[in-house]
Amino acid sequence: MKHARDAILGADQGAYLEGIEPARDPLLAEMEQYARERRHPISDPEVASFLAVTTRASGATRIVELGTNIGYAAIVLARAAGPAARVVTIEHDPKTVEVARGFIERAGLTAQIDVRQGDALAELEAIAAAPGEIDLVYIDCVKEDYPRYLEIVLPKLSARGVVIADNVMWKGLVAKAEVPANEQARVEALRAFNRALVSEPRLRAVVLPLGDGVGYAVRT
Ligand SMILES: C[S@@+](CC[C@H](N)C(=O)[O-])C[C@H]1O[C@@H](n2cnc3c(N)ncnc32)[C@H](O)[C@@H]1O
Repeated sequence: MKHARDAILGADQGAYLEGIEPARDPLLAEMEQYARERRHPISDPEVASFLAVTTRASGATRIVELGTNIGYAAIVLARAAGPAARVVTIEHDPKTVEVARGFIERAGLTAQIDVRQGDALAELEAIAAAPGEIDLVYIDCVKEDYPRYLEIVLPKLSARGVVIADNVMWKGLVAKAEVPANEQARVEALRAFNRALVSEPRLRAVVLPLGDGVGYAVRT
C-alpha cells in the first residue's frame, strides 16, 4: 500500500492494511526499492497481491502482461501460476527489458517468463493472430491504448479468462469534471475503457478501489 496521491484508500487505511501484511518477499522488496529509487512505475504491492490471488483463483496458465517494466508483476504472476504456466510480457524500452531479465533470472523464472521487447499493441496483435487462448491478461501499459488492447484480447480469452487493468482511475482524474489538457487523451481513453469493460456482454466486470484503480473482469 502506498501513500501516494493516486491511492484511493485513505492513508490511515493504507497504514492499517500494511500493518497486517506478513514480511515482504526479499526479491520483491528489493525490486520495490529499486523502482522507488529510480522512479520505475511498477504496480503497487496490494495490486500485486491481487494479481497473485486472481491468478491462483482462476487457474490461469497462459498469461500476457502489457508493460513489463522491471519484471515485478511478471514475477508475481509466474510464481502464482506455478511451473507449468507461461507469462509473455511486453516492454518497449531495451534497457528496462535488460533489467527485467536480470531480476527474472534471479527469481529462477527465465524459462517461464518470455520478455518480448517491442510495442505492446503490435506484439499483442501478433499474439492474437497466432493460435492459442489467453487465460489472464494484465494491462499496465499505454493508457491511450487500453480500449484497443481490450478489443484485441477479448476474442482470445479462454472460457475462464480474466482481464485485469491497472491505473483505471488515473490519479482520480477519471472521475473529475476538470482535467488538465495534458491528461485529456489518457483520461478519455480510460473512461472509454472502463465503460467498455463494465458493459461488454462477454464480460462480468468491476472497478476496484485498489491502488490507482483496478479493472477486473471475467468471461461470462
Ligand atoms: C506501469 S509500467 C509496467 C509495470 C509492470 N506491469 C509491473 O507492475 O511491474 C508500464 C511500462 O510500459 C512500458 N511501455 C510504454 N509504452 C510502451 C509501448 N508502446 N509498448 C510496450 N511497452 C511500453 C514502459 O516503458 C513501462 O515500463
